[in-house]
Amino acid sequence: MKVEEAITQRHSTRAFTDQKISEDQIRKIISLAQLAPSWVNSQPAHVYAATGTTLELIRQRQANAVRTGAASKTEVPTVSRSSFPKEKQDNMAKWYASIPDAIGSEWQKYNNDAALKLYNAQLILYLTLPKNHAEWSMFDLGLFADNILLAAKEQGLDSMTAYYLVMYPQILRETLPISKNERIIVGIALGYKQDDATINGITSEREPVDDVLTVVK
Ligand SMILES: Cc1cc2nc3c(=O)[nH]c(=O)nc-3n(C[C@H](O)[C@H](O)[C@H](O)COP(=O)(O)O)c2cc1C
Repeated sequence: MKVEEAITQRHSTRAFTDQKISEDQIRKIISLAQLAPSWVNSQPAHVYAATGTTLELIRQRQANAVRTGAASKTEVPTVSRSSFPKEKQDNMAKWYASIPDAIGSEWQKYNNDAALKLYNAQLILYLTLPKNHAEWSMFDLGLFADNILLAAKEQGLDSMTAYYLVMYPQILRETLPISKNERIIVGIALGYKQDDATINGITSEREPVDDVLTVVK
């Protein structure tokens, strides 16, 4: 697969099939992700790959927490949409407005159902950084994460990067061997896309390239 194909064919996938992912596949994806550049080769990322009964326990505990309305607090603070610059708020509003057109007015129900099941992912990668990480490490982790998404795509796997996956860090800390010296940043669900799931009909557009690019001659 060409890099361009992997980039253009990657989309956030909110419903996966029951097909499992082997440990060899996980190792291959993460070893490719490790080739991302980082500040002075500091390599700040750590990955906890939750599968099998551990993942089922997380799924069950998170569903209970959501159903009972337990308060959630991510370790990277969430920010309100209104704190983004106006044009970026417009991008977000446009994306939300496109969802009912793509999958119908019941979209929130589909989304909530899919999220409650953690998208039926058979593998979730939880990405952490050292607790007192340098600000640059967050940039490094983004590069590392995108390598995961593209390496997965080459293996026929789709992905879902989500805040939702780390909204109850305490559950993750009680089920995974995450040390207190680490900060939980984000979750990436990987799996085989369920092609006939309505929720996977969500699409997204991008700003015209000239809005994000200034070529200076
Ligand atoms: C850090 C991060 C967190 C995200 N969290 C969520 C989430 O909690 N729920 C969700 O439905 N989508 C989430 N997304 C997916 C974005 O909505 C999606 O990437 C965006 O709409 C562009 O669509 P695409 O990934 O299909 O290209 C998240 C994406 C990123 C990068």
